[in-house]
Amino acid sequence: MILLSIETSCDETAVCIIKRSRGKHVRFEVLSHKILSQVDLHAKYGGVFPMLAKREHAKALTQLIAESLQEADLLVERTHVYHIPSTSRKKLENILDREKDMLTAMKVLFEGIQKPAIDAIAVTQGPGLEPALWIGITSALALSTVWDIPLYPINHMEGHVIAGILSKEDTTYSIPDISFPACALLISGGHTEIVRISKLRSYKVIGKTKDDAVGEAFDKAARMLDLPYPGGPQISRLAELARKEGIVPDEDLRLPRPMLHSGDLHFSCSGLKTAVLTRVHKRKPLTDETKKMLSLEFENSITDVLVAKVKQAMYETRAKTLIVGGGVSANIHIRSALKELATTEGFTIFLPDKDLSTDNGLMIASTGLLHISEGVKPKSKLVANGSWSIENC
Ligand code: KG4
Ligand code: ZN
Repeated sequence: MILLSIETSCDETAVCIIKRSRGKHVRFEVLSHKILSQVDLHAKYGGVFPMLAKREHAKALTQLIAESLQEADLLVERTHVYHIPSTSRKKLENILDREKDMLTAMKVLFEGIQKPAIDAIAVTQGPGLEPALWIGITSALALSTVWDIPLYPINHMEGHVIAGILSKEDTTYSIPDISFPACALLISGGHTEIVRISKLRSYKVIGKTKDDAVGEAFDKAARMLDLPYPGGPQISRLAELARKEGIVPDEDLRLPRPMLHSGDLHFSCSGLKTAVLTRVHKRKPLTDETKKMLSLEFENSITDVLVAKVKQAMYETRAKTLIVGGGVSANIHIRSALKELATTEGFTIFLPDKDLSTDNGLMIASTGLLHISEGVKPKSKLVANGSWSIENC
């Protein structure tokens, strides 16, 4: 069984092809794993513009699919002139009627190569930026229709959960057995959630942010400190430098720990963002030293809150396992604070490989394989859903 996945929920265009190994467990080899980042483009504007992201996905995706097939050794060029049969062509024109350039690119692909040995397609249906999601969805529908391959819509947040637990041995990945109930801490640019997992595919959101997501707060705070987009890695870099140099934040740069004592599992990051802004105004023009202090204090504040909420969630749900996922889980300091908590509290922690923390196609492909192995039925009608909850996937 070979599966191709497409992810276009935000500013990464990603395609991945995996091959399932025999056996009961979900185990697979990666045949191709490609990510085209739009970060440089969005950095100019300090954030992601949905229509710009959509345009870039549309420009890049068909070519990226062809390159992925080539890398996976699944691309066979036609040697004779071939025209898409008229019923398929009409369906294709219908699917891509608003994306004329993509339609042209897709026709060239279908007429130029033979149907590859792909058995299933998985695509992110949400949550994310709807215009961006539509590009992945319509491309996946086009491949599925013309090549007659079953299609599986995937929830991006479930993808982050599965990426969090994947284990890798040599070149083989697998979804390990974990003990339930588990909790997932999902921290990305668009989401901050604690999810109770009674078994894989059964999710209940028990805590979430009331306003900004943690990644969004990192990005906005970084902007206030004149650091480039995406701000998470930049703040993390300065905070690490501050720790190494033994810098202690000045008293007047101390930041609050929002919702630390709220007694529930919810978060709020917008007050923290405002607090950074006040400190920045007080200290303008910012020196490198002040930027380091504020980065350190900001990262410490977020970490303190995340650790406290996770501790409470693990206690309340009696979970034995913590799964961490989403772009912010690449943060070194947050990773080590959560590992330390796992050691003192005696639970098992799963953290994604750093390159699987941020958005990628492998998380969608592996979740697709999980769906297939659990007997989920493929779909022929997909609708982009920007706010699709993991609870309903
Ligand atoms: O999961 P992701 O790639 O995209 C969404 O689904 O949103 O997460 C992107 C977010 C961005 O806000 C980025 O600043 C943040 O993850 N991020 C980090 C780090 N690396 C990425 N935040 C803190 N520290 C990092 N090292
Ligand atoms: Zn994500």
